[in-house]
Amino acid sequence: MDRHWQALHDHRKAAQGRSILSYFDAPDRARNFSASADGLLLDYSKTAIDEKARDLLLALYEAAGVPARREAMFTGARINETEDRAVLHTALRNPSAPVQLDGEDISAGIAETLNRMRRFAEGVRGGQIAGQGGAYTDVVNIGIGGSDLGPAMAALALAPYRDGPRLHFVSNVDGADIADTLAPLDPERTLIIVASKTFTTIETMTNAKTARDWMAARTREPARQFAALSSATDKITEWGIAEDHAFGFADWVGGRYSIWGPIGLSLMIGIGPERFDEFLAGGAAIDAHFRAAPAAENLPVLLALVGIWHNQICGYPTRAVLPYDNRLARLPAYLQQLEMESNGKRVAMDGRDLDLPSGPVVWGEPGTNGQHAFYQLIHQGTQIVPCEFILAARGHEPDLRHQHLLLMANCLAQSEALMTGRDLEAARKIALKSGASGDDLDRQARHRVFEGNRPSTTLLLEKLTPFTLGQIIALYEHRVFVEGAILGINSFDQWGVELGKELALAVEPLLRGDDAPGHDPSTRRLAEALREMGAD
Ligand code: F6P
Repeated sequence: MDRHWQALHDHRKAAQGRSILSYFDAPDRARNFSASADGLLLDYSKTAIDEKARDLLLALYEAAGVPARREAMFTGARINETEDRAVLHTALRNPSAPVQLDGEDISAGIAETLNRMRRFAEGVRGGQIAGQGGAYTDVVNIGIGGSDLGPAMAALALAPYRDGPRLHFVSNVDGADIADTLAPLDPERTLIIVASKTFTTIETMTNAKTARDWMAARTREPARQFAALSSATDKITEWGIAEDHAFGFADWVGGRYSIWGPIGLSLMIGIGPERFDEFLAGGAAIDAHFRAAPAAENLPVLLALVGIWHNQICGYPTRAVLPYDNRLARLPAYLQQLEMESNGKRVAMDGRDLDLPSGPVVWGEPGTNGQHAFYQLIHQGTQIVPCEFILAARGHEPDLRHQHLLLMANCLAQSEALMTGRDLEAARKIALKSGASGDDLDRQARHRVFEGNRPSTTLLLEKLTPFTLGQIIALYEHRVFVEGAILGINSFDQWGVELGKELALAVEPLLRGDDAPGHDPSTRRLAEALREMGAD
């Protein structure tokens, strides 16, 4: 592997000083550095990846044995080695395909759970499953991390397709979250879904109890207005939710990969089972493409190789995801968990320290809003931030097509401006027009220079629908998988979240004024200061 990394670094070094724009001297670069699949178009031509770099990246991909590891994942191998688990979220979106796990075909169980979800969702949407006051008007999903970010992101993304109860999402242990969410709701027509793979996460279980107290004070049979989603079905029963309102899933579904199964129940209630099936089909379409397409035409592979090039080769530590679609406003947050909880690792699968940068810091906001917030740094900062634009050709508001045109123009303009910039000559002309002259002209002009040469990719889709949202999520899931496989890390465990949880329990006594051993002087002093300030 080392020689592949070295060849890439050598190639990058040899190309230093070349502008991205200069690569377009090669004929048809825009087409040659784009790839399509099932209606998606990925353009990665506005990067410094040339033919040679792409060949070297593809050689790295092959040398890392990614194709074999991909098939191991799809066929139920326990690739999550530190937890000794298979990774089979892909099986959830193709329940008709048999998948053997430990000698047993799991597809029947997946299909049965999906059918139970469908019956429940149809019952809630049709009013046969109702609250004390009548058909449910509101559904509140209580969960955090993968038990929240996915359904919350998808509910917003697919808002035009919601023809069921309103969907709300509570995640933070800060009481403000659940208080503000429940305040305007009618308890007699509200369904509470407690979503937690472990059914032990302190934020979720605390919020669930608060919701149960709220419901008990206002309805006769509070337990009937709850449902639960978890791998720990025994804990659901202990907590007091009936089996017919409980939906289980196996431990081979990672939290941040779980929207495709019972964690997606709130979404299914909102948009209906048929559209949820379209969402699953979008994910399954990308699965088929990922398994079949040659690497050089494979969207998840190419997106991963662009990520490796920018982070591990060029040394750009962050990545901005900029969806030009207001309903994808929560996609960056979703991708933060998907990418950073999967690949934010410093130890390789074999236990050795990673001698490469781990996964990038992922961040972003929808366009055009980001243009009025942080694009100054992206265009003229000293650090380079690779940008990933996402844009649909059509919106959902037929009477506002003129606004969609502006949205598209801004998205394409930003990626062009990042690459081409503005040179000193052009900046001088602008400074002149603004009244600058003499010695001041050059100084004024220099502030108006755009260095350019800033890389971006653009992912185009026809329209944001359940199918295309499923494609986008699966595309990024497999991108994460390929990057992690090339780095040789386990993308499917998350030991890094444990220490904070443990310490939170140990700090709590300090805040109550009880003496608690240990803790550094700063933490002790902060706890004392909070008490002096009147901490509740
Ligand atoms: O962030 C840590 C984590 O374990 C995530 O991986 C998971 O999605 C989240 O907490 C919630 O876990 P659970 O679904 O078990 O409540």
